[in-house]
Amino acid sequence: MNPKKIITVFGATGAQGGGLVRAILEDRDGPFAVRAVTRDASSNAARALAAAGAEVVVADLGDEAAVSRAMQGAHGAYCVTFFWAHFSPERELAEARTMARAARAAGLEHVVWSTLEDTRRWMSLDDPRMPTLMGRYKVPHFDAKGEADQFFRDAGVPTTFLLTSFYWDNLIHFGSGPRAGADGTLEFVLPMGAAKLPGIAAEDIGRCAHGIFRRGAELAGRTVGIAGEHLTGAEMAVALTRALGREVRHLDVPPEVYRGFGFPGADDLGNMFQFKRDFNADFCAARSVERSRSLNPRLQDFAQWLGANAARIPLD
Ligand SMILES: NC(=O)c1ccc[n+]([C@@H]2O[C@H](COP(=O)([O-])OP(=O)(O)OC[C@H]3O[C@@H](n4cnc5c(N)ncnc54)[C@H](OP(=O)(O)O)[C@@H]3O)[C@@H](O)[C@H]2O)c1
Repeated sequence: MNPKKIITVFGATGAQGGGLVRAILEDRDGPFAVRAVTRDASSNAARALAAAGAEVVVADLGDEAAVSRAMQGAHGAYCVTFFWAHFSPERELAEARTMARAARAAGLEHVVWSTLEDTRRWMSLDDPRMPTLMGRYKVPHFDAKGEADQFFRDAGVPTTFLLTSFYWDNLIHFGSGPRAGADGTLEFVLPMGAAKLPGIAAEDIGRCAHGIFRRGAELAGRTVGIAGEHLTGAEMAVALTRALGREVRHLDVPPEVYRGFGFPGADDLGNMFQFKRDFNADFCAARSVERSRSLNPRLQDFAQWLGANAARIPLD
C-alpha cells in the first residue's frame, strides 16, 4: 500500500494542474502521491506524467461516476474548470457541482478549488458601467467560478478557495503578447489605465497549491489569493522592453473598445479588465505576493519569468 496521501489532480495535463503534478513529484520525500486525471491516457502529455511517476487515470468532468472513481481513496483533490475550452459558465457550474459532490462522496479531507471573484458582488447586473453578458453575468468566466464556491461549502468538504491571477504565459499562448503598431513599435495592450495587474507564472499556481496541501487543515475553509507580482501596463512594457531588447509601449485602450475587438471572449475579457481596473484595491489586496511566496518559495516575479520565457513570446 502506498503510505503517501493521494492528491487527485484535474487538468493534470494543463497549466494549473500540470504545475501541481510536477510540484508533488519533485517533492520526493513529501507526504503526497499524485493521481493525474486526463481524458486520454494515451496522449503525449499524459504519458509524460506517467513516465515521471504519476498515477494516471481517465475521467471527463461531464461524467460524475468517473470523477468519483478518480477521487476514491484520495486524501485531497485539485479542482479546476476549463472555461476557454467551451465558453460556457453553465458548464463550469455543472462541472464544479460534480466535483464537489464527488469529493463529499469520497470523504476527501482537503480540496483546493481554483476559483475567481464573483464580480456581481461588486457590480449588480443592472449596473450600466459594463454590459451584462450571457443573461446573468458581468464576467462570465469569473462569476461562474465564484458562484460555484457555494457547491463546495454546501458539500461540507474542507476546501481552500484559491484565487488565481492572470498567467504571464498568456503572452505566449493566448495572443496577449506585444504586437507591432502602425509605426512598427511593439505595443502591449492592457485596458487597465494605471491600475496594477496581479500576474503569475502559470507553473507557480500549482506550486502554490502544493504549498496549500502541505499546510493542510489550517487553510481549509479559507480563501487564498496568489500572484507573483502586481504591475501596471507601463511597468510590464518596461520589463518587456528590457527582456526583448526592443522597445515595447503600453497601449491603454478603453475596455469598451477592447470588448469590441471581435475575437471569441473579447467582451468577457473587456469586462474582466474593467473589473480589475475599477476595483483594483480589492483585487490586488486579495492576492498577496508575500503570502504566495510563503506557500511557494520558488515564486517568480515578471522579470524572472521573462528571463526564462521571453524568447517564446511570438512578436509578429
Ligand atoms: N489564462 C489565465 O490567465 C487564467 C488565469 C486565471 C484562471 N484561469 C482559468 O484557468 C482555467 C483553465 O485552467 P488551465 O489553464 O490549467 O487549463 P489548460 O491548461 O487549458 O488545461 C486543461 C486540461 O484539462 C483537461 N480537460 C479539459 N476539459 C476537460 C474535461 N471536460 N474533463 C476533464 N479534463 C478536461 C485537458 O486535459 P486532457 O486533454 O488530458 O483531458 C487539458 O489539458 C480556466 O477556467 C480559466 O478561466 C486562467
